[in-house]
Amino acid sequence: MSDLPPRLVRVVPGGPVMVEGPVCVELPDGSTVESDRFMVAICACRRSKTYPLCDTSHRRRQRAGGGAQSEQGSVESSAQG
Ligand code: FES
Repeated sequence: MSDLPPRLVRVVPGGPVMVEGPVCVELPDGSTVESDRFMVAICACRRSKTYPLCDTSHRRRQRAGGGAQSEQGSVESSAQG
């Protein structure tokens, strides 16, 4: 086992998986996406237009009448990509 402290990975309910960066994410097709941010939000909902990085699309919900609704104040807003 490494002498390094374990890397923090935090699952946000209904949102992304937060991983301490920098990271290199490998997709099923073998392509990779890199981010050198301190904290990287990995999309777990598959709605992100910048998948595999979270673009906060998980916050938008469809109302019964149609229009989109946004949730505010999530902790991960400054840690995209
Ligand atoms: S978790 Fe998918 S867009 Fe944020």
